[in-house]
Amino acid sequence: MTHLERPPASDGEGIDGILQAGHFGGIAPAALAQEFGTPFYVYDLDMIGRRVDALRTVLPSRFRVAFAVKANPALAVIAHLRRCGLGADVASGGELEAVLRAGFEPSKIAMTGPGKREAELAAAVAAGIGFVTVESVGELRRLEAIADAAGRRQPILLRLSVTEDAHMETVRLIGGVEGKFGMPLATVYEAARYAAASPHLEPLGLHAFGASNLRDADQLADHVAELVEIARQVAVDAGFALKVVDAGGGLGIPYADDERPLDLDRLGGRLAALQARWATDAALRDLEVVLEPGRFLVGPAGAYVARVVDTKGPESAPVAILDGGINHAVRPTLVRSEHRLAVLSEGVRALVRTTVAGPLCTGLDVFTTGAMLPRPRVGDLVALLDVGAYGFTESMPLFLSHPTAAEVAIKNGKARLIRPRITPTELLDRQTDPDW
Ligand SMILES: Cc1ncc(COP(=O)(O)O)c(C=O)c1O
Repeated sequence: MTHLERPPASDGEGIDGILQAGHFGGIAPAALAQEFGTPFYVYDLDMIGRRVDALRTVLPSRFRVAFAVKANPALAVIAHLRRCGLGADVASGGELEAVLRAGFEPSKIAMTGPGKREAELAAAVAAGIGFVTVESVGELRRLEAIADAAGRRQPILLRLSVTEDAHMETVRLIGGVEGKFGMPLATVYEAARYAAASPHLEPLGLHAFGASNLRDADQLADHVAELVEIARQVAVDAGFALKVVDAGGGLGIPYADDERPLDLDRLGGRLAALQARWATDAALRDLEVVLEPGRFLVGPAGAYVARVVDTKGPESAPVAILDGGINHAVRPTLVRSEHRLAVLSEGVRALVRTTVAGPLCTGLDVFTTGAMLPRPRVGDLVALLDVGAYGFTESMPLFLSHPTAAEVAIKNGKARLIRPRITPTELLDRQTDPDW
Protein backbone atom coordinates (compact mmCIF):
# COMPACT_ATOMS: atom_id res chain seq x y z
CA MET A 1 0.00 0.00 0.00
CA THR A 2 1.50 3.37 -0.96
CA HIS A 3 0.63 6.57 0.87
CA LEU A 4 -2.06 7.08 -1.80
CA GLU A 5 -3.85 3.86 -1.03
CA ARG A 6 -6.34 4.54 1.74
CA PRO A 7 -9.60 3.01 2.74
CA PRO A 8 -12.52 4.99 1.32
CA ALA A 9 -13.86 7.70 3.64
CA SER A 10 -16.54 6.42 5.98
CA ASP A 11 -19.03 8.73 4.32
CA GLY A 12 -17.97 7.50 0.87
CA GLU A 13 -21.44 6.38 -0.14
CA GLY A 14 -22.65 9.73 -1.46
CA ILE A 15 -23.22 10.69 -5.04
CA ASP A 16 -23.43 14.46 -4.71
CA GLY A 17 -19.83 15.45 -5.25
CA ILE A 18 -16.29 14.11 -5.24
CA LEU A 19 -15.14 16.28 -2.32
CA GLN A 20 -16.30 14.51 0.81
CA ALA A 21 -14.93 15.42 4.24
CA GLY A 22 -12.06 17.23 2.51
CA HIS A 23 -11.02 14.12 0.62
CA PHE A 24 -11.36 12.79 -2.90
CA GLY A 25 -12.44 9.15 -2.80
CA GLY A 26 -10.91 8.86 0.68
CA ILE A 27 -7.56 10.42 -0.31
CA ALA A 28 -6.21 13.76 0.87
CA PRO A 29 -5.81 16.26 -1.99
CA ALA A 30 -2.31 17.15 -0.74
CA ALA A 31 -1.22 13.52 -1.18
CA LEU A 32 -2.50 13.54 -4.76
CA ALA A 33 -0.74 16.84 -5.48
CA GLN A 34 2.50 15.48 -4.06
CA GLU A 35 2.31 12.32 -6.15
CA PHE A 36 1.05 13.74 -9.43
CA GLY A 37 1.92 17.46 -9.31
CA THR A 38 -0.57 20.21 -10.17
CA PRO A 39 -2.82 21.00 -11.90
CA PHE A 40 -4.75 17.77 -12.25
CA TYR A 41 -8.23 16.44 -12.79
CA VAL A 42 -9.38 13.76 -10.39
CA TYR A 43 -12.33 11.41 -10.89
CA ASP A 44 -13.94 9.16 -8.29
CA LEU A 45 -14.85 6.04 -10.26
CA ASP A 46 -16.73 4.54 -7.32
CA MET A 47 -18.95 7.59 -7.20
CA ILE A 48 -19.51 7.34 -10.95
CA GLY A 49 -20.61 3.75 -10.38
CA ARG A 50 -22.99 4.88 -7.65
CA ARG A 51 -24.47 7.52 -9.95
CA VAL A 52 -24.99 4.88 -12.64
CA ASP A 53 -26.76 2.69 -10.08
CA ALA A 54 -28.88 5.57 -8.80
CA LEU A 55 -30.14 6.26 -12.30
CA ARG A 56 -30.61 2.66 -13.34
CA THR A 57 -32.49 1.84 -10.16
CA VAL A 58 -35.28 4.22 -11.08
CA LEU A 59 -35.44 3.46 -14.80
CA PRO A 60 -38.17 1.06 -15.96
CA SER A 61 -37.24 -2.15 -17.76
CA ARG A 62 -37.46 -0.83 -21.33
CA PHE A 63 -34.91 1.93 -20.74
CA ARG A 64 -31.21 1.54 -21.30
CA VAL A 65 -28.35 3.94 -20.79
CA ALA A 66 -25.54 4.84 -23.18
CA PHE A 67 -22.85 7.15 -21.81
CA ALA A 68 -22.31 10.30 -23.91
CA VAL A 69 -18.56 9.97 -24.35
CA LYS A 70 -18.14 13.65 -25.21
CA ALA A 71 -18.67 14.45 -21.54
CA ASN A 72 -15.52 12.60 -20.51
CA PRO A 73 -13.63 10.48 -23.01
CA ALA A 74 -10.78 9.42 -20.69
CA LEU A 75 -10.10 5.76 -21.43
CA ALA A 76 -10.17 4.72 -17.77
CA VAL A 77 -13.51 6.49 -17.26
CA ILE A 78 -15.22 4.98 -20.28
CA ALA A 79 -13.79 1.53 -19.53
CA HIS A 80 -15.23 1.84 -16.02
CA LEU A 81 -18.63 2.74 -17.45
CA ARG A 82 -18.40 -0.23 -19.80
CA ARG A 83 -17.77 -2.48 -16.80
CA CYS A 84 -20.83 -0.91 -15.18
CA GLY A 85 -22.76 -2.35 -18.14
CA LEU A 86 -23.53 0.84 -20.04
CA GLY A 87 -23.53 1.41 -23.77
CA ALA A 88 -21.79 4.39 -25.36
CA ASP A 89 -22.84 7.28 -27.55
CA VAL A 90 -19.98 8.62 -29.66
CA ALA A 91 -19.83 11.80 -31.70
CA SER A 92 -16.71 11.27 -33.79
CA GLY A 93 -14.34 8.71 -35.22
CA GLY A 94 -11.96 9.48 -32.36
CA GLU A 95 -14.60 8.69 -29.76
CA LEU A 96 -15.50 5.52 -31.66
CA GLU A 97 -11.86 4.44 -31.53
CA ALA A 98 -11.82 5.16 -27.79
CA VAL A 99 -14.89 3.08 -26.95
CA LEU A 100 -13.73 0.18 -29.10
CA ARG A 101 -10.38 0.28 -27.31
CA ALA A 102 -12.25 0.42 -24.00
CA GLY A 103 -13.92 -2.85 -24.94
CA PHE A 104 -17.51 -1.78 -25.61
CA GLU A 105 -19.51 -4.33 -27.53
CA PRO A 106 -20.19 -2.76 -30.97
CA SER A 107 -23.92 -3.47 -30.65
CA LYS A 108 -24.00 -1.17 -27.59
CA ILE A 109 -22.42 1.77 -29.43
CA ALA A 110 -24.39 4.58 -31.07
CA MET A 111 -22.96 7.37 -33.20
CA THR A 112 -24.70 10.74 -33.13
CA GLY A 113 -23.68 14.22 -34.17
CA PRO A 114 -23.57 16.64 -37.08
CA GLY A 115 -20.94 16.60 -39.81
CA LYS A 116 -19.90 12.96 -39.73
CA ARG A 117 -17.20 12.48 -42.34
CA GLU A 118 -17.35 9.56 -44.76
CA ALA A 119 -14.41 7.87 -43.03
CA GLU A 120 -16.21 8.14 -39.69
CA LEU A 121 -19.43 6.66 -41.09
CA ALA A 122 -17.42 3.90 -42.77
CA ALA A 123 -15.66 3.09 -39.50
CA ALA A 124 -19.03 2.89 -37.73
CA VAL A 125 -20.46 0.57 -40.38
CA ALA A 126 -17.33 -1.60 -40.40
CA ALA A 127 -17.41 -1.91 -36.60
CA GLY A 128 -21.05 -3.02 -36.73
CA ILE A 129 -22.29 -0.48 -34.19
CA GLY A 130 -25.83 -0.65 -32.82
CA PHE A 131 -27.09 2.36 -34.74
CA VAL A 132 -26.01 5.55 -36.46
CA THR A 133 -28.18 8.58 -35.77
CA VAL A 134 -28.65 10.34 -39.09
CA GLU A 135 -28.71 14.14 -39.03
CA SER A 136 -29.64 15.03 -42.62
CA VAL A 137 -30.89 13.65 -45.90
CA GLY A 138 -27.40 14.01 -47.36
CA GLU A 139 -25.95 11.96 -44.54
CA LEU A 140 -28.64 9.34 -45.05
CA ARG A 141 -27.60 8.94 -48.70
CA ARG A 142 -23.90 8.83 -47.87
CA LEU A 143 -24.46 6.22 -45.18
CA GLU A 144 -26.60 4.15 -47.51
CA ALA A 145 -23.83 4.09 -50.12
CA ILE A 146 -21.24 3.14 -47.50
CA ALA A 147 -23.44 0.34 -46.13
CA ASP A 148 -24.07 -0.88 -49.67
CA ALA A 149 -20.33 -0.96 -50.42
CA ALA A 150 -19.71 -2.82 -47.16
CA GLY A 151 -22.47 -5.30 -47.90
CA ARG A 152 -24.33 -4.40 -44.70
CA ARG A 153 -27.76 -3.22 -43.69
CA GLN A 154 -27.01 -0.43 -41.25
CA PRO A 155 -29.44 0.20 -38.38
CA ILE A 156 -30.24 3.90 -38.05
CA LEU A 157 -32.21 6.43 -36.09
CA LEU A 158 -33.39 9.68 -37.65
CA ARG A 159 -32.69 12.78 -35.61
CA LEU A 160 -35.50 15.24 -35.15
CA SER A 161 -34.48 18.85 -34.69
CA VAL A 162 -35.64 20.58 -31.54
CA THR A 163 -36.64 24.18 -31.09
CA GLU A 164 -35.11 25.44 -27.89
CA ASP A 165 -35.66 28.63 -26.02
CA ALA A 166 -32.72 31.01 -25.84
CA HIS A 167 -31.52 29.65 -22.51
CA MET A 168 -32.00 25.97 -23.36
CA GLU A 169 -34.14 25.54 -20.29
CA THR A 170 -37.20 24.09 -21.93
CA VAL A 171 -37.75 21.63 -24.72
CA ARG A 172 -40.07 22.23 -27.64
CA LEU A 173 -40.04 19.37 -30.04
CA ILE A 174 -42.68 19.64 -32.69
CA GLY A 175 -42.00 22.12 -35.46
CA GLY A 176 -38.26 21.89 -34.94
CA VAL A 177 -36.63 24.11 -37.52
CA GLU A 178 -33.84 23.39 -39.99
CA GLY A 179 -30.60 23.92 -38.15
CA LYS A 180 -27.34 22.31 -37.20
CA PHE A 181 -28.84 19.34 -35.37
CA GLY A 182 -31.23 16.86 -36.92
CA MET A 183 -34.07 17.42 -39.35
CA PRO A 184 -37.47 19.12 -39.17
CA LEU A 185 -40.43 16.83 -38.80
CA ALA A 186 -41.50 16.93 -42.48
CA THR A 187 -37.97 15.92 -43.56
CA VAL A 188 -37.93 13.13 -40.98
CA TYR A 189 -41.12 11.72 -42.48
CA GLU A 190 -39.54 11.73 -45.97
CA ALA A 191 -36.25 10.30 -44.72
CA ALA A 192 -38.09 7.53 -42.88
CA ARG A 193 -39.96 6.48 -46.02
CA TYR A 194 -36.72 6.51 -47.99
CA ALA A 195 -34.85 4.49 -45.35
CA ALA A 196 -37.66 1.96 -44.98
CA ALA A 197 -37.46 1.27 -48.72
CA SER A 198 -33.66 0.92 -48.80
CA PRO A 199 -32.10 -2.56 -48.68
CA HIS A 200 -29.02 -1.04 -47.03
CA LEU A 201 -30.66 0.83 -44.17
CA GLU A 202 -32.70 -0.44 -41.25
CA PRO A 203 -34.67 2.36 -39.60
CA LEU A 204 -35.20 1.58 -35.92
CA GLY A 205 -36.74 4.84 -34.77
CA LEU A 206 -36.08 8.46 -33.90
CA HIS A 207 -33.64 10.49 -31.85
CA ALA A 208 -34.07 13.91 -30.30
CA PHE A 209 -31.95 15.68 -27.72
CA GLY A 210 -34.24 17.91 -25.68
CA ALA A 211 -32.19 20.44 -23.74
CA SER A 212 -29.01 20.55 -21.70
CA ASN A 213 -28.75 20.33 -17.94
CA LEU A 214 -32.43 19.86 -17.12
CA ARG A 215 -33.05 19.30 -13.43
CA ASP A 216 -36.81 19.15 -13.90
CA ALA A 217 -37.93 15.50 -14.02
CA ASP A 218 -41.25 16.44 -15.60
CA GLN A 219 -39.62 18.21 -18.54
CA LEU A 220 -37.41 15.19 -19.16
CA ALA A 221 -40.35 12.78 -19.00
CA ASP A 222 -42.51 15.02 -21.18
CA HIS A 223 -39.74 15.02 -23.76
CA VAL A 224 -39.65 11.21 -23.81
CA ALA A 225 -43.44 11.00 -24.06
CA GLU A 226 -43.66 13.46 -26.92
CA LEU A 227 -40.78 11.93 -28.84
CA VAL A 228 -42.20 8.42 -28.56
CA GLU A 229 -45.55 9.63 -29.85
CA ILE A 230 -43.94 11.33 -32.85
CA ALA A 231 -41.75 8.30 -33.52
CA ARG A 232 -44.82 6.09 -33.43
CA GLN A 233 -46.54 8.17 -36.09
CA VAL A 234 -43.43 8.34 -38.30
CA ALA A 235 -42.90 4.56 -38.08
CA VAL A 236 -46.53 3.79 -38.87
CA ASP A 237 -46.41 6.19 -41.82
CA ALA A 238 -43.16 4.75 -43.22
CA GLY A 239 -44.18 1.19 -42.48
CA PHE A 240 -41.37 0.00 -40.21
CA ALA A 241 -41.56 -1.50 -36.72
CA LEU A 242 -40.58 1.05 -34.08
CA LYS A 243 -37.79 -0.51 -32.06
CA VAL A 244 -35.72 2.33 -30.58
CA VAL A 245 -36.31 5.88 -29.46
CA ASP A 246 -33.26 7.77 -28.21
CA ALA A 247 -34.23 10.73 -26.06
CA GLY A 248 -30.66 12.02 -25.78
CA GLY A 249 -29.02 13.24 -22.57
CA GLY A 250 -29.62 16.47 -20.73
CA LEU A 251 -30.14 15.07 -17.23
CA GLY A 252 -28.96 17.97 -15.13
CA ILE A 253 -26.83 18.47 -12.05
CA PRO A 254 -26.64 21.38 -9.61
CA TYR A 255 -23.72 23.74 -10.15
CA ALA A 256 -24.61 26.31 -7.49
CA ASP A 257 -25.20 25.64 -3.80
CA ASP A 258 -28.82 26.72 -4.02
CA GLU A 259 -29.70 24.47 -6.98
CA ARG A 260 -31.60 21.27 -6.29
CA PRO A 261 -30.59 17.96 -7.87
CA LEU A 262 -32.78 16.16 -10.37
CA ASP A 263 -35.53 14.24 -8.58
CA LEU A 264 -34.69 10.72 -9.74
CA ASP A 265 -37.67 9.11 -8.04
CA ARG A 266 -40.02 11.46 -9.80
CA LEU A 267 -38.29 10.82 -13.13
CA GLY A 268 -38.55 7.05 -12.61
CA GLY A 269 -42.20 7.31 -11.60
CA ARG A 270 -43.12 9.34 -14.65
CA LEU A 271 -41.22 7.02 -17.01
CA ALA A 272 -42.81 3.94 -15.43
CA ALA A 273 -46.25 5.44 -16.06
CA LEU A 274 -45.31 6.04 -19.70
CA GLN A 275 -44.02 2.51 -20.08
CA ALA A 276 -47.25 1.13 -18.68
CA ARG A 277 -49.17 3.13 -21.27
CA TRP A 278 -46.98 1.88 -24.12
CA ALA A 279 -47.63 -1.73 -23.10
CA THR A 280 -51.20 -1.44 -24.33
CA ASP A 281 -50.18 -0.15 -27.78
CA ALA A 282 -49.29 -2.75 -30.43
CA ALA A 283 -47.15 -0.23 -32.35
CA LEU A 284 -44.95 0.22 -29.26
CA ARG A 285 -44.71 -3.42 -28.29
CA ASP A 286 -41.01 -3.76 -29.15
CA LEU A 287 -39.97 -0.27 -28.13
CA GLU A 288 -36.75 0.28 -26.23
CA VAL A 289 -35.86 3.79 -25.03
CA VAL A 290 -32.24 4.87 -24.89
CA LEU A 291 -31.05 7.71 -22.67
CA GLU A 292 -27.56 9.02 -23.32
CA PRO A 293 -26.56 11.13 -20.32
CA GLY A 294 -23.05 12.46 -19.92
CA ARG A 295 -23.05 15.23 -17.34
CA PHE A 296 -25.32 13.45 -14.87
CA LEU A 297 -23.14 10.35 -14.63
CA VAL A 298 -19.71 11.92 -14.33
CA GLY A 299 -20.03 15.67 -13.65
CA PRO A 300 -20.16 15.73 -9.85
CA ALA A 301 -17.60 12.91 -9.60
CA GLY A 302 -14.74 15.02 -10.96
CA ALA A 303 -12.72 18.02 -9.73
CA TYR A 304 -9.93 20.13 -11.17
CA VAL A 305 -7.19 20.91 -8.67
CA ALA A 306 -4.66 23.71 -9.08
CA ARG A 307 -2.18 25.41 -6.77
CA VAL A 308 -2.11 29.05 -5.76
CA VAL A 309 1.09 30.58 -7.17
CA ASP A 310 0.45 34.22 -6.23
CA THR A 311 -1.85 36.30 -4.08
CA LYS A 312 -2.41 40.03 -4.02
CA GLY A 313 -4.92 42.70 -3.12
CA PRO A 314 -6.37 43.73 0.22
CA GLU A 315 -6.87 41.20 3.02
CA SER A 316 -10.60 41.66 2.74
CA ALA A 317 -10.77 41.05 -1.02
CA PRO A 318 -7.75 39.06 -2.17
CA VAL A 319 -6.91 37.83 -5.64
CA ALA A 320 -5.44 34.34 -6.00
CA ILE A 321 -3.65 33.28 -9.18
CA LEU A 322 -3.53 29.53 -9.84
CA ASP A 323 -1.11 27.44 -11.89
CA GLY A 324 -3.95 26.61 -14.29
CA GLY A 325 -7.14 28.25 -15.48
CA ILE A 326 -9.34 28.21 -18.53
CA ASN A 327 -6.58 26.46 -20.48
CA HIS A 328 -7.69 23.41 -18.45
CA ALA A 329 -11.28 24.20 -17.49
CA VAL A 330 -13.05 26.56 -19.84
CA ARG A 331 -16.65 25.58 -19.12
CA PRO A 332 -17.35 28.16 -16.41
CA THR A 333 -16.34 30.93 -18.83
CA LEU A 334 -17.78 29.35 -21.94
CA VAL A 335 -21.29 28.93 -20.62
CA ARG A 336 -21.05 31.65 -17.96
CA SER A 337 -21.83 29.18 -15.22
CA GLU A 338 -19.74 29.71 -12.12
CA HIS A 339 -18.62 26.45 -10.54
CA ARG A 340 -18.21 25.90 -6.83
CA LEU A 341 -14.63 26.34 -5.62
CA ALA A 342 -13.01 24.92 -2.50
CA VAL A 343 -9.79 26.13 -0.92
CA LEU A 344 -8.28 22.93 0.40
CA SER A 345 -6.34 24.52 3.23
CA GLU A 346 -5.59 23.22 6.70
CA GLY A 347 -7.08 24.98 9.72
CA VAL A 348 -9.77 27.59 10.08
CA ARG A 349 -9.47 30.84 8.15
CA ALA A 350 -11.75 33.83 7.76
CA LEU A 351 -14.04 33.76 4.74
CA VAL A 352 -13.35 36.68 2.42
CA ARG A 353 -14.68 37.78 -0.92
CA THR A 354 -12.09 36.27 -3.24
CA THR A 355 -11.13 36.47 -6.88
CA VAL A 356 -9.66 33.24 -8.23
CA ALA A 357 -7.98 33.39 -11.64
CA GLY A 358 -5.68 31.35 -13.83
CA PRO A 359 -2.33 32.35 -15.34
CA LEU A 360 -3.47 33.19 -18.88
CA CYS A 361 -3.15 36.64 -20.40
CA THR A 362 -6.85 37.20 -20.89
CA GLY A 363 -9.47 38.69 -18.66
CA LEU A 364 -11.63 35.65 -19.43
CA ASP A 365 -9.34 33.47 -17.34
CA VAL A 366 -11.18 34.01 -14.06
CA PHE A 367 -13.08 31.32 -12.13
CA THR A 368 -14.76 33.71 -9.71
CA THR A 369 -14.68 37.35 -8.70
CA GLY A 370 -16.82 37.18 -5.62
CA ALA A 371 -16.88 33.79 -3.94
CA MET A 372 -16.67 33.72 -0.16
CA LEU A 373 -13.62 31.51 0.44
CA PRO A 374 -11.06 30.96 3.20
CA ARG A 375 -8.38 33.60 2.50
CA PRO A 376 -6.01 31.81 0.08
CA ARG A 377 -2.24 31.62 0.56
CA VAL A 378 0.53 30.80 -1.89
CA GLY A 379 0.87 27.01 -2.00
CA ASP A 380 -2.77 26.28 -1.21
CA LEU A 381 -4.65 23.82 -3.36
CA VAL A 382 -7.91 25.02 -4.88
CA ALA A 383 -10.52 22.66 -6.31
CA LEU A 384 -12.98 23.57 -9.02
CA LEU A 385 -15.89 21.22 -8.46
CA ASP A 386 -18.37 19.43 -10.74
CA VAL A 387 -16.03 19.27 -13.73
CA GLY A 388 -16.10 15.51 -14.30
CA ALA A 389 -18.14 16.31 -17.41
CA TYR A 390 -17.09 18.84 -20.05
CA GLY A 391 -13.96 19.61 -18.03
CA PHE A 392 -10.72 18.22 -19.43
CA THR A 393 -12.32 17.46 -22.79
CA GLU A 394 -13.76 20.93 -23.27
CA SER A 395 -10.61 22.84 -22.38
CA MET A 396 -8.25 24.95 -24.50
CA PRO A 397 -4.92 23.45 -23.46
CA LEU A 398 -2.67 25.04 -26.07
CA PHE A 399 -3.29 28.68 -25.21
CA LEU A 400 -0.12 30.16 -23.68
CA SER A 401 1.90 26.93 -23.88
CA HIS A 402 1.42 25.71 -20.33
CA PRO A 403 1.56 21.98 -19.54
CA THR A 404 -1.80 20.25 -19.80
CA ALA A 405 -3.54 19.02 -16.66
CA ALA A 406 -2.86 15.44 -15.62
CA GLU A 407 -5.83 13.13 -15.07
CA VAL A 408 -6.08 10.90 -12.03
CA ALA A 409 -8.74 8.32 -11.19
CA ILE A 410 -9.55 6.90 -7.76
CA LYS A 411 -11.11 3.52 -7.22
CA ASN A 412 -11.33 1.50 -4.01
CA GLY A 413 -9.15 4.04 -2.23
CA LYS A 414 -6.35 3.79 -4.82
CA ALA A 415 -5.29 6.68 -7.04
CA ARG A 416 -3.80 6.09 -10.47
CA LEU A 417 -2.50 8.44 -13.13
CA ILE A 418 -4.73 7.80 -16.16
CA ARG A 419 -3.34 10.49 -18.45
CA PRO A 420 0.01 12.16 -17.79
CA ARG A 421 0.33 15.86 -18.44
CA ILE A 422 1.70 16.84 -21.85
CA THR A 423 4.57 19.28 -21.57
CA PRO A 424 5.20 22.27 -23.85
CA THR A 425 8.44 20.55 -24.88
CA GLU A 426 6.50 17.56 -26.21
CA LEU A 427 4.29 19.89 -28.20
CA LEU A 428 7.33 21.75 -29.53
CA ASP A 429 8.94 18.46 -30.54
CA ARG A 430 6.02 17.80 -32.89
CA GLN A 431 6.62 21.04 -34.80
CA THR A 432 9.08 21.92 -37.55
CA ASP A 433 10.53 25.12 -38.84
CA PRO A 434 10.92 24.23 -42.54
CA ASP A 435 14.28 24.78 -44.13
CA TRP A 436 12.96 27.34 -46.66
C1 LIG B 1 -26.45 13.82 -29.00
C2 LIG B 1 -26.08 14.05 -27.59
N1 LIG B 1 -26.33 13.08 -26.68
C3 LIG B 1 -25.99 13.23 -25.40
C4 LIG B 1 -25.38 14.37 -24.94
C5 LIG B 1 -25.04 14.47 -23.51
O1 LIG B 1 -25.66 15.49 -22.85
P1 LIG B 1 -25.58 15.65 -21.28
O2 LIG B 1 -24.14 15.57 -20.91
O3 LIG B 1 -26.16 16.99 -21.03
O4 LIG B 1 -26.37 14.56 -20.69
C6 LIG B 1 -25.13 15.43 -25.83
C7 LIG B 1 -24.51 16.67 -25.36
O5 LIG B 1 -24.24 17.59 -26.05
C8 LIG B 1 -25.48 15.26 -27.19
O6 LIG B 1 -25.24 16.22 -28.08
